[in-house]
Amino acid sequence: MQTSTVYDSTLIQLPKVFNEKGNITAINNWEGIIPFTIDRVYYLYDIPGGEDRGGHAHKELEQLIIAASGSFDLMLSDGTTNKTFNLSRPYYGVYMPPGLWRELHNFSSGAICLVLASEKYEETDYIRDKEEFKRYKRNIENAFKEIS
Ligand code: TYD
Repeated sequence: MQTSTVYDSTLIQLPKVFNEKGNITAINNWEGIIPFTIDRVYYLYDIPGGEDRGGHAHKELEQLIIAASGSFDLMLSDGTTNKTFNLSRPYYGVYMPPGLWRELHNFSSGAICLVLASEKYEETDYIRDKEEFKRYKRNIENAFKEIS
């Protein structure tokens, strides 16, 4: 069970190996650059103009989201507060703890959204209904109030 808020999401500057022939960013588990061990990598591409993605939350999954190419907006919500990141550089990533609603908007042409994830794909980890997400957050808050 997670009690995360949008303030637990963070913008992480990733290492960049500069080369005038082109730069490289590497993320190794052993370096501890991001606060979870990577188990899966996926990316969104060929996103038609005007399309939005996301529109769900995860119960346990941790993710780092990177604009590997182009730009887009990442809107996060904890059911109470919203926070939006504009991602446009491949050496920045947003860390998302579990229990946040996320939406991806305003993709530029040719944008690539690279996602590093802490777990394998598991449909039962998704909450795809916003009202259900708000109920889920309220239930967790109430459970934590009862034990504290
Ligand atoms: P989803 O995470 O719902 O995409 P988005 O929220 O960005 O629109 O994934 C869409 C579909 O892609 C999902 O129903 C199954 C498939 N999928 C996989 O098979 N493996 C994965 O790792 C992911 C992220 C999605």
